[in-house]
Amino acid sequence: MITPKMVPSIPIAPRRWPLLGHMRVIAKEQHAFLLEMERTLGPVFWINMGFGIWSIVVTGEEAHTIMKNKATRSDLLDKQVPHITGHTLLVNDGTEHRRMRGAMNGPFTPKGINAADIGKMIYDVVEEHFESWEDDASLDIHHITNVFALDVIFRILGIEGADLPLWRKKFSEFIGPGMLLPFEFPGSPKWKSKKAQEWMDERFSVLVKQAREKSDTQSMLGALAHGADERGRRLEDKELLANLRILALAGHETTASVLAWVMLHLSHSPKHWDLLLEEVRQSPNEPITPKTMASYPLAEAVFRECLRLYPPVSLLPPRRVAEEMEIYGHTIPVNTRVVASLISLSKDAAAYPDPLSFQPERWLGREKRPGPLESVQFGGGPHFCLGYHLALLEGVQFIVSATRYLDKHNLRPTLQGDLPTPKYLPLTRPPKTHIELHAA
Ligand code: HEM
Repeated sequence: MITPKMVPSIPIAPRRWPLLGHMRVIAKEQHAFLLEMERTLGPVFWINMGFGIWSIVVTGEEAHTIMKNKATRSDLLDKQVPHITGHTLLVNDGTEHRRMRGAMNGPFTPKGINAADIGKMIYDVVEEHFESWEDDASLDIHHITNVFALDVIFRILGIEGADLPLWRKKFSEFIGPGMLLPFEFPGSPKWKSKKAQEWMDERFSVLVKQAREKSDTQSMLGALAHGADERGRRLEDKELLANLRILALAGHETTASVLAWVMLHLSHSPKHWDLLLEEVRQSPNEPITPKTMASYPLAEAVFRECLRLYPPVSLLPPRRVAEEMEIYGHTIPVNTRVVASLISLSKDAAAYPDPLSFQPERWLGREKRPGPLESVQFGGGPHFCLGYHLALLEGVQFIVSATRYLDKHNLRPTLQGDLPTPKYLPLTRPPKTHIELHAA
């Protein structure tokens, strides 16, 4: 791998520890650190992610060059956790990636989401999750949104409600914290992770077979099981299974984290809660399609603003430079690790005045829908989030349903004290924080 000695024109970020490099500061105060580095060093600098692994972080608009994946490749992740990312969209590029993406895109478009009645499915899961919301309840909000988002994605992928607790357990073994450790023996976290993967694959195989036998092309799983790109090329079965797993991974913690921040901010800002109540009371239709979602501009604005302030994927997974490239006038050699800082683009003061403050209003009254630059929290280029429309629908629906439910039960969410400081790695998320429900 390439080290700073080979590209000395790019500065090395300070606050580096022996052995751990910048890992500590990235884990503890990532956003503030990256914003400070951009201010003091400029839009490109070296960081060390521990044990001699160097990456160039790009904070300015040239980060988009990295995401375009013309001179860069996404295969680094596959070396770390091959049993999780192998054969998936995430680690493929070029023709292979286009084939996979072409075979999977359909059900994730607004049309595909409508055809599979995903909105209604999400609505049902939301309702089930509100049963414990009562007067004087104290809710561990990130835990709640996490279980909710995992249930949503499993239900969408054809898992029955009664089976969800077991799937949750297996899934937590699959992505358990020890999976990155190098050793593996019976009972070790990595061994358990692989066993859980086999368990899920066996069950997904049965569901895929059933969907094919029934010629089901409507449901999300059915559409994926039958999916083909414009040249009629389908996913191989091992690719389909790997991608079903990655959908659950990519599609739950990200949405869960944003929704937890949404509830924390709404509990902390009575003004925005009141405005949202007004919006929800005026619109009787549930936002179960991307079209009916349009009746809830403030709910979407709150979601987008929390996404902007706390992008779950604040640093894009590192790319490997495959062809020598230029970034801000520096020549970057082949095999350098380069990282696009989505958090820096998200908090760019030129695009968002007073970028650190919570102002959902900045998303309202626009003539055009937010474009790719304003949705950069979902990445960019060919790997732009497959679940973009689904995440927005799920987010708006959760916010509207939570508001309606609490209004109906005459409850109001409140947060004691200040908003918490985010935690980082692997994703930006709030620490365990409770919100309280009290009579309005
Ligand atoms: C707020 C919610 C979400 C955020 C912030 C988010 C963010 C991202 C980002 C930044 C990427 C790009 C990764 C890269 O370039 O290396 C990505 C890719 C992806 N996301 Fe999402 N995501 C969200 C929700 C979802 C959902 C709900 C799903 C599906 C159920 C999903 C599925 C995927 C998949 C499959 C990819 C890989 C696409 C590819 O490589 O072509 N995501 N997401």
